Formats: sequence, C-alpha cells, structure tokens
Amino acid sequence: MCGIVGYIGYRDVFPLLINGLKRLEYRGYDSAGIAIWDGKVRVYKCRGKVSDLEKSVEGHPVSGKIGIGHTRWATHGEPNDVNAHPHSSFGGKFVLIHNGIIENYALLKERLERKGIVFKSETDSEVLVNFIEYIYQKGGVSAEMAVRLALSKVEGAYGVVILCTDEPDKLIAARKGSPLVIGVGNDEYFLASDATPIVEFTKSVIYLNDYNIAIITRNEMKIKTLGNVSLIPVIQQLDLDLGEIDKGGYDHFMLKEIFEQPRSILDTFRGRVTSDKSDLRLGGLYSIIPRLVEAKNIIIIGCGTSWHAGLVGEYLFEDLARISVEVEYASEFRYRNPIIGKDDVVIAISQSGETADTLAAVKLAREAGALVLGICNVVGSSIPRETDGGVYTHAGPEIGVASTKAFTAQVTVLAMMAILVAHKKNLISQEQYKHYITELTAIPDKICRILAQDNEFKKIAKLYKGVNNFLYLGRGYLFPVALEGALKLKEISYIHAEGYPAAEMKHGPIALIDHNMPVVVLAIQDHSYDKIVSNIQEVKARKGVVIAIVTEGDTNIRELAGHILEIPATDAIFSPLLAVIPLQLLSYHIAVMRGCNVDQPRNLAKSVTVE
Ligand code: AGP
Repeated sequence: MCGIVGYIGYRDVFPLLINGLKRLEYRGYDSAGIAIWDGKVRVYKCRGKVSDLEKSVEGHPVSGKIGIGHTRWATHGEPNDVNAHPHSSFGGKFVLIHNGIIENYALLKERLERKGIVFKSETDSEVLVNFIEYIYQKGGVSAEMAVRLALSKVEGAYGVVILCTDEPDKLIAARKGSPLVIGVGNDEYFLASDATPIVEFTKSVIYLNDYNIAIITRNEMKIKTLGNVSLIPVIQQLDLDLGEIDKGGYDHFMLKEIFEQPRSILDTFRGRVTSDKSDLRLGGLYSIIPRLVEAKNIIIIGCGTSWHAGLVGEYLFEDLARISVEVEYASEFRYRNPIIGKDDVVIAISQSGETADTLAAVKLAREAGALVLGICNVVGSSIPRETDGGVYTHAGPEIGVASTKAFTAQVTVLAMMAILVAHKKNLISQEQYKHYITELTAIPDKICRILAQDNEFKKIAKLYKGVNNFLYLGRGYLFPVALEGALKLKEISYIHAEGYPAAEMKHGPIALIDHNMPVVVLAIQDHSYDKIVSNIQEVKARKGVVIAIVTEGDTNIRELAGHILEIPATDAIFSPLLAVIPLQLLSYHIAVMRGCNVDQPRNLAKSVTVE
C-alpha cells in the first residue's frame, strides 16, 4: 500500500530517496517524508505528493549517506503532516517508516500511554516506534534486539525500515506480509517495497521473507529470523530494465500500458507456443498438469480486475476443459470458512503478487491441502513464493493504478491453461487445438487494429465525459468484460458505473435507463448475438444511448445503436482480449477530459497490501 525506500552507502542519499519515492508513488500518494542522518537525524515530511515534499525541503540541509523515505496510503489517521511518515519515537532514539497495518496497535498504545508516553499522531506506525524505544530504554538492549522483541509482539502486517540514533551506521529492516526488497551493491545497500527504485543501481536483489530481519551497515548485511537465527540470503538477478518503468513518451503510464498490450500478450505466450503452433508449453505447470487434468473442482481467487480475469477463467475451464469452477473474492473466501478439498485446485490471480487478501487466501488453501497455483506478474513477489507452481504473465511492470495489460495477460494465461487441459483430456481435437493456438497468436495484431481507432473512442468520450452514470452489458465471455469496463471508468473518472449480464438488466437496472444513461453493450457475433440485439432494443425503447462494441462489418446493430465501435472477429474464448480494449481507452479519455489524475486516482493504490 505505502511505498518505502532506504539507503546506506556512499552516495548522496537525498536525490536517491526522492527518486525512489517517485518510482513507488503508485503505491500511495497521501503524504511523503524522509529522514536523513548527517551526524544527527533530520526528518522532513508533509501531506501530498513527493513533489510537495521536494518543495518543502528547499533551502534545508539534506546531505547525508544514510536515509529512509516513505510515500503513504492512509489507513490509520487522515492524510496530514503529523500522520505522515517517518515517525520518531518519544525519546528520539528511533525513526521508522512502515508499510502495513499493526492490528493490535490500540492495545499497545493504551499500555504505552499508561506509561506516560505521549503520541503525536493517530497512526499505528507511531505506536510501533514508541514500543521499540520503550523496550530499548527499559531493557537496556541493542537497537536490533529492541526491534526484534517489539516485532515479536505485534500482530498484523509490516514492512519497516528503522534508524537508531545511538547506532546511526546501520539500518534495520523487517517484513511480515508486506513486501521488502534489498538491493545489493558494492559498499552500499538499497531497500524498497519493490524493485523499481533499485534497478537503476543494481540487479542483485534479496526478497526478504516473512519474520525476517536485516541488519545492514555500509559494507555488511546480516539476515536473521525474529528469533535471532542467522539466515543465508538468496541473491536473485532482476529481469527488469529502467526503460520499462518510464512513460516512454506517453502522457500517462495507463495509456502506455494499454498500447503495450500487443507486445505484452505476445511476451505472455512467447516461448509457450511451439514455433509450428502445434502445442502449448507451460513450464511452471509441467509437473502439475496431471493433477489439473484430473481436477474435479477449480477455485479461482483474486481481487478487483484480477477477479474479473478469474471470471473469464471460469467460462474457459468449464466451456473447454469441462471442470467446474468457483470464482471467489479473496477477501470473502478467507473468512467464509470455505470448503476446500485436497483434490481441489486453487488458482490465485494477482498482478502485484502482494494483495493481502489474496495472499492470505493462498495460505488458507495450502493449509487445507489443495494444490495452489499462481498467475502473477511481479517476479519474486509473495504470492508466487507461497504457491505450488504457476505461470508468470510477462506483461512487464504495470505502473498505472488502473490495471489494463495485466488483465489481458491474465486472460491469455487462463486461455492457454484451459486449452491445454482440454487437449490433454481429449475434449478438443488436434485440429481444434491448433486452431486455438493459431488464433491466440493472431490476437496481438487484432489489438493493433483496435488501437488504431483510438480517435473514435476519444470522440465518444468527449460526448459523455459529463455524465454521472454508465451501464455496461455483456453476455457469456463478455459479462466479466462488462464488469471490467465499469471498474475502469469508476476508478479513474469517478463516474458511477455498473456492469451486468445483459439479460439481468430486465430484473432491475433497466429502471435506471433514460436519455442521460449511456449503455455500453458488448454485442459481438457469437451464439448469443440475437439475445444481445434484443437487449439493445430494450435499452433503446427506454431512450437509453447505446454504445455498441460489435464485430467488424456488423450492419445490423448500426441501425439500433447511437454509436458503433468495431473489433475484429475472433473465437468467443478470445473475445475478452479484444472487447476490453475500447473500454479501457473510453474510460481513459473520459478521465483525462475530466482532469482526473489517471495514473494515481484518488483513494486508490496499485497494490493493496493491507486487509
Ligand atoms: C484494478 O485496476 C485495480 N488496481 C485493482 O482492482 C486491482 O485489480 C486489485 O487491487 C488486485 O490487484 P492484484 O492483481 O495486484 O492482486
């Protein structure tokens, strides 16, 4: 949720912290702050963006070689200067940045207040840093020991980096539930919530595991458990380039990522489609396929856009592989005391690989003995490390908070998995199998043809940028896309929008329709075409304005709809990959025309690492 950075080495730390925080700003942008050691600790923090922080420190001393920084997504205490991080402890001995939630903070705070400790902010994080100093003062222990003792008493999630003014030549970092990456350099170390602030300095990284603590000086790093057991760190090489995390000349990351989809889908099936397009190879599932083929029940879990991709997965596995599927909101699944059998296969979908509810649902499914697979985009993130196997979507870094290319990459992986299992189960012929593979490899070009119509989407956006409501309707494979289209518009333009199975409209939502209600209808030519045409007539009869996404060359709906957006023909199983593109661009242009911050929509964050 929040973004944290840290550095200890020989470089000037201020620009490093500021640039690092800018790279992580998609994780939270309510307030920002830094602490730098230059013989004494200097803390600068304020409400707002990292750029506001930069302005606020102009003229102040910021030189130093050791420092920590934080960009916040508020959970406890409103976005303001006092609740901004870093937080200093009551005696000034410790300065801390925290990503996560300390669930038992109220109890700890009460106890510390009874000891006379006064709090400045409303945050759970300040409770943690005060608790550390309290143990440090009371116990006469080292800074490391005080941190380990305090963390062994807190409940919840944390990624923390701590500086102790009595031991200023080191940083202490620890994680449980929230991600923390350590970049290993020569006589320098970098710390961050993900690799984006680190890649320009080193590709050698360590992903800290839960209950691990790292004690880092300029030229040495020790990793231990909270129980003081030394660990040998596993250094991995980043498969990420700086160029991938820049806007590449686009106005927004979201627009860049929408236009990257031909390549991201190509990269997602690259090396997984044989050169003669006769077979699929999913290496991460190689040893697991037999259990998937035998599976009686698949449970797909995820949140937000990943949940929508899961819904497409349900249609794919039931339609092609004839395996029954349940799609679950991870947050509900984990607390619903769900029935998870040992023969069940659980597929967790997450772009970031860090979403707290999905991660917890994965752990629950593993404890129940199910086979747990992951479909994730961020290599080395927590969910892939908790699963029995899985498939990485190779969509590249997704910086825009509104997920776009990750959705189409997730659907691409689900399609490949379902087609492969259907083939293994002899439910589709070799000919049909090869046809699906060939059609999949044609999708990137078809998306290019849709992207080339962007001006058409812009024209429609201009007409409807001022409305307050939108309705999205779809049938079959396109019902989840209607939900996704509505979510995209909601999260970046703040227009209220709902997606519905088209036939469901008559059971209530049709009451919303009048001449002010634009209704986006996904009306491609498939087995439910006639039904969707009737739905369009029902909307038209109530003076609703129909924006129809149709198959190229469709002349029938042209008579009925106010606006027509054409997409190339493809198999129904691949239609979500094409039909979602106009919806992504429509929401993007409407949001830009309404002056919204498309890449950092209000109240949202890219990776939801707290419950
Ligand atoms: C989608 O645009 C949103 N950013 C959000 O709904 C997102 O899909 C959800 O938080 C799940 O994230 P994940 O895929 O990283 O787990």
